[in-house]
Amino acid sequence: MKIALSPMDKFRAAGKFVDLKLNRRPLSVSIEVTKRCNARCDFCDYWKISDRDEMTDFTDIVRRFDPLVVVLTGGEPMIRRDLVPIIQSIKDVPGFRYITVLTHGGFLTEAKIREMVNAGVHQINISMNYPDARQDQERGIPGLFERLSKTVPKMVKEGHHVFTFASMLMVDNMHDAEPLIRLAHSWGINIAFSGYNDLKNGNQKHFVSPEKMEEFRKVCARIIQLKREYGNVMTSDWFFETLPTFYEKRHLDGCTAGKYMIHVNPKGMVQPCAELPAVAHYSEYVPQAYAGPNCGKCFDSCRAEPQAPLTLRRLGELTGLI
Ligand SMILES: C[S@@+](CC[C@H](N)C(=O)[O-])C[C@H]1O[C@@H](n2cnc3c(N)ncnc32)[C@H](O)[C@@H]1O
Ligand code: SF4
Ligand code: SF4
Repeated sequence: MKIALSPMDKFRAAGKFVDLKLNRRPLSVSIEVTKRCNARCDFCDYWKISDRDEMTDFTDIVRRFDPLVVVLTGGEPMIRRDLVPIIQSIKDVPGFRYITVLTHGGFLTEAKIREMVNAGVHQINISMNYPDARQDQERGIPGLFERLSKTVPKMVKEGHHVFTFASMLMVDNMHDAEPLIRLAHSWGINIAFSGYNDLKNGNQKHFVSPEKMEEFRKVCARIIQLKREYGNVMTSDWFFETLPTFYEKRHLDGCTAGKYMIHVNPKGMVQPCAELPAVAHYSEYVPQAYAGPNCGKCFDSCRAEPQAPLTLRRLGELTGLI
């Protein structure tokens, strides 16, 4: 289950990676195309926001930062009826970039997937924390899991190798990690894990408590084994080795948010990351001049993975060679 890029695009991506590193420019820019959402998650309050004052043209942001990866996120990005033209406009900006959409998956019909892929999406990340209908309850979207389990494997069989599960590893679903990896494998897709944080709405109940930590460490060690077995877990070993420590301390230094990854909200304001307030309008923001908050309060994959040591094995994983 390798990343679906042509050899030429892999070459262009590698060149751009080196250029961005040398010039200390952001590798990834997450664009929150909306804050609105139709789900009802208890760990995120975006769905309580109704503000419709949102940019319609995001191409200037892409031109200004020219990152390797553009993540279209939200809120729920697919709630925007003009998402496909937004994708197309970003694709049409000269130069290579890897475009991903992060979605709860509730609007993923076959037709919509085709439209997004034709417009230029390389990867569709579907948030998936449970391998069954508990996903519907978590998101407050009836029938969500069943619809995805009909649509996604069918589209993969038809050659759309664009899907990845984005899973938060929390106390609630730690024993679902293994079934989730197997489910992703049976659908022919990859899975990436991320940590839980309470910065979105203060909800503490999904953290791993000290009493559960030993159990959690065993789950993390098991996932590292499953990574070797199935080859579809995109997350670094270091992430699984470090996540229990983050849950113990609720703090981990070394975050480069605001420098190598930035977040832009629907009004064009730059936030160092999704969790912290805006610091400047995108047209005035200079990542190289920003010290970064490094608040250490989350272990989301977007901040954790850039910190993972670049071992020979990791290099192989990232380049798709192993
Ligand atoms: C804010 S959502 C936006 C995109 C889309 N609505 C979705 O849920 O996939 C982006 C990602 O953040 C994750 N997320 C939400 N609340 C979180 C929290 N409290 N801690 C860590 N990740 C969280 C979601 O599961 C999702 O994968
Ligand atoms: S995590 Fe995503 S789906 Fe859930 S409320 Fe937040 S934006 Fe919506
Ligand atoms: S650790 Fe980094 S990404 Fe996480 S909330 Fe703090 S600044 Fe943002």
